[in-house]
Amino acid sequence: MIVVGIESSCDECSVAVVKDGRSVLSNVIATQIEFHKPYSGVVPEIASRKHVEWIMDVYNRALKEAGISSCDIDVVAATNRPGLMGSLVVGFSFAKGLAMGLEKPLVAVDHIKAHLYAPHLEYDISYPFIGLLLSGGHTVISMVNSFDDFEVMGTTIDDACGEAFDKVAKHFGWGYPGGVVIDRMAEKGCDTAFSFPDSVLKKDKHTYDVSYSGIKTAVVYQLEQFKNPGYESSPENIAASFRKAAIDMVLKRLDRAVNDTGIKRVVLGGGVAANSYLRRVLTEKKHEGWEVFFPSMELCTDNGAMVAAIAYEYAIRGRFDSLESGVSARVPD
Ligand code: KG4
Ligand code: ZN
Repeated sequence: MIVVGIESSCDECSVAVVKDGRSVLSNVIATQIEFHKPYSGVVPEIASRKHVEWIMDVYNRALKEAGISSCDIDVVAATNRPGLMGSLVVGFSFAKGLAMGLEKPLVAVDHIKAHLYAPHLEYDISYPFIGLLLSGGHTVISMVNSFDDFEVMGTTIDDACGEAFDKVAKHFGWGYPGGVVIDRMAEKGCDTAFSFPDSVLKKDKHTYDVSYSGIKTAVVYQLEQFKNPGYESSPENIAASFRKAAIDMVLKRLDRAVNDTGIKRVVLGGGVAANSYLRRVLTEKKHEGWEVFFPSMELCTDNGAMVAAIAYEYAIRGRFDSLESGVSARVPD
């Protein structure tokens, strides 16, 4: 079964062709970063316009790379929730047009479920597992029971994890997206130079939620101190201390989730999964009997392959969506 998967929920315009839910024949990802860079964040209006301009070309490239023609497509799938409204509309409408024109069934895909499914393209992972999705838009700790069933255990009450890295990097003047720069600078600093707060934990010792507003304010305060003559620390030390605090906050909740559920299988997703400190700490967890899965970066970040792969699961069960279905910025309760 050939499934074409379309992903346009944020600023990545991606189309992939996946055979039988596992074999990725192509996964074309066109990133819009350079257009959002001047604004230090994704501008929804620019994102949707770029999707309109690019989607046809990205689709044609995906088919060409896969060595197929449109007649070979069995199922059309696209992300329809959650995400930026305008961006979702472009990819999902394109998918509906394609399904209608080719007279093939349509599968509407939940973006979070697709992220949590992506690692299956590289590993054999049994359910249940604890899913940790950390990106510029999402911070989700969840118990994943099957491809279609997950329970959110914790999330952020303000900024997403990657967003916090990006905002702190902006204060440093290190460009956008800044997570990777902070990570690089942090490698040269001392992560115990500053102690940044874990404000939520003080309020509720049992929470799985995180909050980045307190840390952000504390980091900005330290950066202000640079202006004082005689200030002795370095940006590398602040970056290292921030990285440790931001990641430890997630790791504490993850530890708690593993202890509370007894599930020692953990699967990562999202751009922050590239963080070197996070990877080091989680790699060590194997000594405590954890199984930790890190997908490749192409599958951690937004991509059409994860959309096509999860759509196959619905398709083999005959679960299709109507051409009347729409998009939703949030996942309905
Ligand atoms: O999943 P992703 O590519 O895009 C979406 O947000 O949808 O994630 C991008 C986010 C950005 O916030 C970026 O700064 C962050 O992932 N990121 C990192 C690292 N690499 C990327 N954050 C911390 N450490 C990194 N090495
Ligand atoms: Zn995403």
